[in-house]
Amino acid sequence: MDKLWAGRTAGTTANLVDEINSSIAVDRRLYKRDIAGSIAHAKMLANQEIISHEEADAIVRGLKGIEADITSGALQIDPTAEDIHMFVETVLTQRIGDTGKMLHTARSRNDQVALDTKMYCIEEIDSIDYLLSELMKVLADKAEKNMEVIMPGYTHMQHAQPVSFAQHLMAYAMMFERDKSRLEDCKKRMLERSPIGACALAGTTFNIDREYEASLLGFTGIAMNSMDAVSDRDHFVELMSALSIIMMHTSRLSEEIIMWATSEFNFIQLPDEYTTGSSIMPQKKNPDVAELCRGKTGRVYGNLMSLLTVLKGLPLAYNKDIQEDKEPLFDSVETVKLCIEAFIEMVDVMKVNEESMYESATKGYVNATDLADYLVVKGLPFRDAYNISGKVVSYCLGRGCKLEELPLEEYKQFSPLIEADVHKRLSLKTCVERRNSAGGTSPASVRKQIAYIRCLLQQEQ
Ligand code: ARG
Repeated sequence: MDKLWAGRTAGTTANLVDEINSSIAVDRRLYKRDIAGSIAHAKMLANQEIISHEEADAIVRGLKGIEADITSGALQIDPTAEDIHMFVETVLTQRIGDTGKMLHTARSRNDQVALDTKMYCIEEIDSIDYLLSELMKVLADKAEKNMEVIMPGYTHMQHAQPVSFAQHLMAYAMMFERDKSRLEDCKKRMLERSPIGACALAGTTFNIDREYEASLLGFTGIAMNSMDAVSDRDHFVELMSALSIIMMHTSRLSEEIIMWATSEFNFIQLPDEYTTGSSIMPQKKNPDVAELCRGKTGRVYGNLMSLLTVLKGLPLAYNKDIQEDKEPLFDSVETVKLCIEAFIEMVDVMKVNEESMYESATKGYVNATDLADYLVVKGLPFRDAYNISGKVVSYCLGRGCKLEELPLEEYKQFSPLIEADVHKRLSLKTCVERRNSAGGTSPASVRKQIAYIRCLLQQEQ
């Protein structure tokens, strides 16, 4: 195939070379950003009198036509083109003639692709950020409906202390809040550093205005070193790392949903639309959506590792290895969006089995800490109170009863400080209500958490 970059070479390549060199199947997604970048470039060139305003106008018109035609389907992206940048420039020249050939003055594909991919990331960060807000909203709504629902809180997967289901859900809302702030940081750093104008690696002999071109595209600043600008992919690594953390969070929630839906836990039920059956076992109702999100986390981590590995050991400046950045980047972005979307609905529709959760919380002496706290209030140092509570637990284990069921006379054998109010103090509802410290599981504290998250989301609007 003949090449725009023929230069000193014959400009024809072997089929296999075309195949390995081509990135159009992946970077075709960048067509809108590529055209937006080229429009800004043409305007800057005209402003700096490198090309005339008439020439710039013809280029801009041509580019807008190409964008409209690709979007409407009137123009098919040629799958045999090398990449989206070459494709757009070739079609431009076919459509407007020699003026199209002026567009690439004071530019290289090296700074062009860095720019286009950054613009892609910036837009996608906005949509992921929006989806995370929606997920937080659903979590807060679900929490509000389950303020009074008590479940066992676990450490080491052992019953630890009673918590409300609302508190458990809000823990995830807090994780997604941090995820959003990581995305925001990442976006801010991207916007501060427009790479365009770095050209191939060393800048250009033309009198370009990089700040102006950057500002036309919404950037707040420019990359200060041309070699860094074309070879740096930190921003993508950073985004993929933030995406990996989001997946880590959704994967933890996936694991809990999968566990909660088992007959052993029976804490939740997923409606039929959110489960799949088995081809052999007619009774099966599988939580595939959660399982797939957990599984896809592996892909997103792998994508991060893949880009880190591509970059490791690369000398300055641009090397073709860097073309391998986009496939994992796009895949991570698309995977994360799909998983968050699925979660928004799944959390919303999941049915909570209140009685089962409560029933489970009554097992395992989750109120043993409350008995110790009770004795502390009556005047014992915590360590002594802890020992007494431990002894009561082992006595109740032998007797086959719960702490809140042990008669007062028997309590008295352990400490004269224990009085008739102990039973009420040990009811799971009281245990949850009294954990009123900031961030604790009491309804008052959870209400504050919900208000905090809702206030953040409101400020965004
Ligand atoms: N498709 C290429 C990429 O994604 C564009 C840059 C090509 N630059 C070059 N000097 N051959 O990285």
